[in-house]
Amino acid sequence: MNSREIRQKFLSFFEERGHKVVTSSSLVPDDPSVLLTTAGMQQFKKYFTGELDAEKDFGSLNTTSIQKSFRTSDIDEVGDESHLTFFEMFGNFSFGGYFKEEAIRYGYEFITKVMGLEIDYVTVFDPKKVSHDDWRAGVPFDEESYNFWKKIAPEVDVRREGVDNFWGPTGSEGPCGPTTEIYVNGALRQAQGKPPVEVWNIVFNQFYCDSLKKLTPLKIQGVDTGMGLERLVMVSQDVPTIFDTDLFASFLSEISLEMPIKIRRIAADHARGIVFLISDGVRPSNKDAGYVLRRLVRRFVMYSEKYKFDSNILLGGVVREYGDFYDNLSKELILEVFSEERKKFLETLDKGIKELEKLQNIDAVSAFSLFSTYGLPYEVIKEVGSEKAKNLTREDFDKEFEKHQEISRAGQEKKFGGHGLILDTGELKAGNEEELKKVLRLHTATHLLQAALRKVLGSEVGQAGSDITVDRTRFDFTFPRKLTPEEISKVEKLVNDVIAEDLPVQKIIMPKEEAEKTGALYFFKEKYPDPVNVYFVGKDIDSAFSKEFCGGPHVTHTGEIGHFRIKKEESVGAGLRRIRGVVE
Ligand code: ALA
Repeated sequence: MNSREIRQKFLSFFEERGHKVVTSSSLVPDDPSVLLTTAGMQQFKKYFTGELDAEKDFGSLNTTSIQKSFRTSDIDEVGDESHLTFFEMFGNFSFGGYFKEEAIRYGYEFITKVMGLEIDYVTVFDPKKVSHDDWRAGVPFDEESYNFWKKIAPEVDVRREGVDNFWGPTGSEGPCGPTTEIYVNGALRQAQGKPPVEVWNIVFNQFYCDSLKKLTPLKIQGVDTGMGLERLVMVSQDVPTIFDTDLFASFLSEISLEMPIKIRRIAADHARGIVFLISDGVRPSNKDAGYVLRRLVRRFVMYSEKYKFDSNILLGGVVREYGDFYDNLSKELILEVFSEERKKFLETLDKGIKELEKLQNIDAVSAFSLFSTYGLPYEVIKEVGSEKAKNLTREDFDKEFEKHQEISRAGQEKKFGGHGLILDTGELKAGNEEELKKVLRLHTATHLLQAALRKVLGSEVGQAGSDITVDRTRFDFTFPRKLTPEEISKVEKLVNDVIAEDLPVQKIIMPKEEAEKTGALYFFKEKYPDPVNVYFVGKDIDSAFSKEFCGGPHVTHTGEIGHFRIKKEESVGAGLRRIRGVVE
């Protein structure tokens, strides 16, 4: 079956079963809490929570879509057999229409009857596989899914898994619940000893998870499923990798077969990413989605220079392949944006490479300097630096990046979604040394503020966002009512007492799981890498006044902050408060 037929079969299957076909939303979501669209459910979030009415908007409680998706979390994996940045996701959704039995039946029927594939095994959620202190440990075994599988498909092996079978929430809070996943393998992959691939993730949105990771049952029991189109096509066409499917064939043929296989795959992946990001309105820049695009373009250009393939032909090939399904792909516009960025990059690339060649050994510090001065991305430095850069790791490079650039802002902190971390470049909001010092004082003061709020008002205070500029910090948090003047003074005093003690601000890097056990606060866990930086204020982490997962940077001692003052406390929505504070 070719990919065209598979697309059609999927949508018809669900349409025939009462689902309204909804077109893909943009890769740039209108949800400010997410950087890029990472899953099909994103455009439907408000139907799961009941804020919007599906019956009214779609004439049905059930929908289906093929959603354009982009996951930067997989960027370093691209080049292997099954990871991509841009991909398309099949999904069927129900907002209170049907639930586990039908969703499992649909999944089973589509895979085995429509696609004619054999299911290797399926998985269901079991808290016994979850560590006891995990926030999902209290979620009961998904016995219903287990039993429905046994009833519908007695021949299928049903395995019990832990946190991999729990989805969400995306962002700091939202719908979430247990999942059941379907694993399939083609005969060829199996013969080659390759493991079955997870093709379909069927999520049952049973709970609402708040920012403190407390779960309450949702009124609407929702179904949210996601199946990677490329993976399904791969197992259906019985080819060894996604790049061998017809989805890639037409434009991959534009690249010479002599090129290393990994580079061909990266070029093909990035060409698709570039085409779709530009078409959805992203432009290269140094922040947010623009920075993602810039990384793709620069790496792509670097390879096209080195391996001499014609990037325009490749990008044109992608437009040709996808133009039928997505009517906003304009080759002219894509090439215009691409060529401008390419030109900018090539202008500095030469200089950067000359500098690079002068170096004897490239470590994280020199690599970062090549990046910040000449725009050489990590991948380029690694590639061109070759032997000289053999000890350079992405992790060290990112740490260097963080050290220089990471002053988190609320918009920044919120801009994650789907599978955790999307991008955490941070944004240097300080123009010079003096401003930087000010921002550091405000940043540490913000940690103290959060700790003080929790001490005075209780642990229901949870971070909902923060934004730091040279002039002030703005901290949003969950709390049901206005603070009294006494409470405000108490919080202020507590912060200033800690400043007066001149306590050290220290950082330890530890595995995320261990870090959570220390009681360190986090905005939402998926945002942070593993291992994670924990910043704490005090002599040791156990007795610390404040401890948080954080990219830094901070002042070294609280005394440097000076004096902290709350300027304003106000409501910014139901159960949400905002404090503006300054340091003097
Ligand atoms: N939202 C689920 C996922 O993306 C289906 O895996």
